[in-house]
Amino acid sequence: MTALLDRSTARAEATLGERLRATRKLSLDLAAPLSDADATIQPFPDASPAKWHLAHTTWFFETFILRDHVPGYRLFDERWPFLFNSYYDGEGARHARPKRGMLSRPSLDEVRAYRAHVDEALDGALSGLPPAALDLIELGINHEQQHQELFLTDILATFAENPLEPPYDELSPAACFATEPLSFHAGREGIVEIGATEDGFAFDAERPRHRIFLAGHEIANRRVTNGEWRDFIADGGYATPSLWLSDGWAWLQQEGIGAPLYWRADGTEFTLGGRREIDWAAPVTHVSFYEADAFARWSGARLPTEAEWEDFAASADPMVGNQLDQAGAVVPRPGGGVFGDVWEWTASAFLPHPGFAPAEGAVGEYNGKFMSGQMVLKGASCATPRGHSRASYRNFFPPASRWQFTGLRLARDA
Ligand SMILES: [Fe+2]
Repeated sequence: MTALLDRSTARAEATLGERLRATRKLSLDLAAPLSDADATIQPFPDASPAKWHLAHTTWFFETFILRDHVPGYRLFDERWPFLFNSYYDGEGARHARPKRGMLSRPSLDEVRAYRAHVDEALDGALSGLPPAALDLIELGINHEQQHQELFLTDILATFAENPLEPPYDELSPAACFATEPLSFHAGREGIVEIGATEDGFAFDAERPRHRIFLAGHEIANRRVTNGEWRDFIADGGYATPSLWLSDGWAWLQQEGIGAPLYWRADGTEFTLGGRREIDWAAPVTHVSFYEADAFARWSGARLPTEAEWEDFAASADPMVGNQLDQAGAVVPRPGGGVFGDVWEWTASAFLPHPGFAPAEGAVGEYNGKFMSGQMVLKGASCATPRGHSRASYRNFFPPASRWQFTGLRLARDA
């Protein structure tokens, strides 16, 4: 049996309780290298403090499982839902998102105590929960995995603000130093199906599975590399308005954008492992949709649509690739496949699939209300917990966002 099969089987056989405990532990492990001050800083309004991620994921379980499904459960602190509700209007008023970094109290240790309190209550309640609550535990696990990725990208953004450029942790050496030659392969033409089936967990936005028409197209065998991005810069990519969408050109001018987010002028980049030489063979990352779109135009290509990407990835194993297995520093690496290293921008807006219905109850606010002004990203990144993503997965961010591990793969009409 291959290591790959071992991993897939292990995941299928792990009970809900085991996966819950493993997920909760990984979040604590991710916080282990941080001081209270590290965990309190909010580098910009869209990013959240590490401490807030730890508490908010706990609030999710406390609110939607313990409060709603466990008679007699008492909140750890009645004032804290106001602090740690993210965006659920159904749950009432909350602390302003841009001010999350002002929460010097509760301390990191108090948040750890909150986690222990909720974990103990979940452990005690698990065997007696109704099926609807077990589904919410599954959602809570997947929700916490999303925040584990945000935890890493937000702490990278936090440390990038510090002139001392502290490393979060040590990066292991690269195992591969080469890039495959770029080639394009024909995608399927005609009516195909995309979206999640009704089997197993998927977020509401991935359903229903439905038919869609693909015109003739080709898709690249690999992601765009840092070396290719260097060529784009050298060729005046950031100074040629005809390559850019109007909104993208205005954004670039206003923000003074001229390279991926963490690149420095001396050929180095800032990573979770601190400052290092740019790995030219690795997939480019920390680029916005606008940059990805302009690069594709410069290449004589375009970004794939969500449906083209999903059909292309349908036969790939989402468990394989450079993804998050344990706490520590991560970085995109050369030589990866379809899933892992970087999320891939698509040309598709984040809109409901035909027949989409939001989940019932307060968690119906999870995805549906964000279907405006955001682009779909597919795949997984080096910071995505392994097992979290799949071909139908729909990550989404506004087109100017670039603090996530975002990159691209080219496509073109055929
Ligand atoms: Fe959340």
